[in-house]
Amino acid sequence: MKSLYIGLMSGTSMDGIDAGLFEIKERTCTTNATLSTEYPPELRTALLRASRNPGTCDVDELGLLDNWVGECFMQAADDLLARNGIEKTLVRAIGSHGQTIRHQPRSKRPFTLQIGDPNVVAAGTGITTVADFRRRDMALGGEGAPLATAFHKWFLSNPKENRVVLNIGGIANITVLPAGEGTVFGFDTGPGNTLLDAWIQSRQGRKYDSNGDWGASGRISEELLAALLDDPYFRSPPPKSTGFEYFNLEWLQQAVSRISKFESVWDEDVQATLADLTARSIAEAIGKHAANTGRILVCGGGVLNTALMRRLKEQLPGVVVESTSGHGIDPRWVEAATFAWLAKRCLDREPGNLPAVTGASRETLLGGVYYGLDAASGKD
Ligand SMILES: Nc1ncnc2c1ncn2[C@@H]1O[C@H](COP(=O)(O)OP(=O)(O)O)[C@@H](O)[C@H]1O
Ligand SMILES: [Mg+2]
Repeated sequence: MKSLYIGLMSGTSMDGIDAGLFEIKERTCTTNATLSTEYPPELRTALLRASRNPGTCDVDELGLLDNWVGECFMQAADDLLARNGIEKTLVRAIGSHGQTIRHQPRSKRPFTLQIGDPNVVAAGTGITTVADFRRRDMALGGEGAPLATAFHKWFLSNPKENRVVLNIGGIANITVLPAGEGTVFGFDTGPGNTLLDAWIQSRQGRKYDSNGDWGASGRISEELLAALLDDPYFRSPPPKSTGFEYFNLEWLQQAVSRISKFESVWDEDVQATLADLTARSIAEAIGKHAANTGRILVCGGGVLNTALMRRLKEQLPGVVVESTSGHGIDPRWVEAATFAWLAKRCLDREPGNLPAVTGASRETLLGGVYYGLDAASGKD
């Protein structure tokens, strides 16, 4: 049986496509090769507009973006193999998350939409592609997110230690991994990098605050922080998931405008406050729902925000806070590995969701299968 899998992922930050080649066996996952590619700027702009202002995106545009993102994902997989001299026939499957354009788990008709046509990926690479991982869980009443939790449990849990895996992408999510027999659960704690990115983009035209340096030059506004933390999302009980539909520039601007009437808040102060908002909301969620945590393993692009990591450690005294890198996987590649692993689970007919995490009524297979060139021969 082939044991090589490709994971393709682009998160809500839309900072680019992460493509990873992983060797996954019964108990091990090894990262063999990785590649990050950026979207063409025109495509990124169109994706940001379509997702942040959905009213401006019509059916024709959505179809076009679906095809274009599919082509970029296909190219990322192709380049990953070509640059590392890996034969396509050695790869059992691609797990392609696609690009989330909309995630509305709590609307009257819940839905989530990831684009990047998997037919384009499967036809272009010739490799069996598993995609559309979230909607089966949602069809069973779940949030369709977070999905990385099952992978965290499989790869990063330890029977002797209460752990939390913290992913700081656009949104931050935690997976609580109790030692022993306790129930694994997880949820989105709120904004990760999304507000930090949106604010620096709107004020300075930069994609993100490198190392968190700009924010570190500002002063935290306790009033603004309190106003932001007062949002009911932070108080609502899990399971819960969220996205940029909720935590966005408008959401921030309302509070900033209110506070600015009483206090002068500079742009860098807002950035400093946002970093603290991310750190505090994470620390409070862990304090409330995983009070006996001994170690927090952090992954996602937020690990590279040094100032944010420092604030997080300050908020969590007595807990070891470290990146996943010492635990077998580079923090930037956990999500790509998750979808490679979920592709394997699907082909092995194993469930991919954890109902205690997503709120689904039961365990289920996740993903639709788009067969590659070997399909006619009956091999995966
Ligand atoms: N050097 C860095 N300094 C500060 N922040 C960074 C750095 N590199 C990446 N990031 C942050 O990580 C984000 C991307 O993280 P990622 O885990 O890929 O999120 P997503 O899953 O939403 O795509 C960027 O948008 C940025 O905010
Ligand atoms: Mg990303």
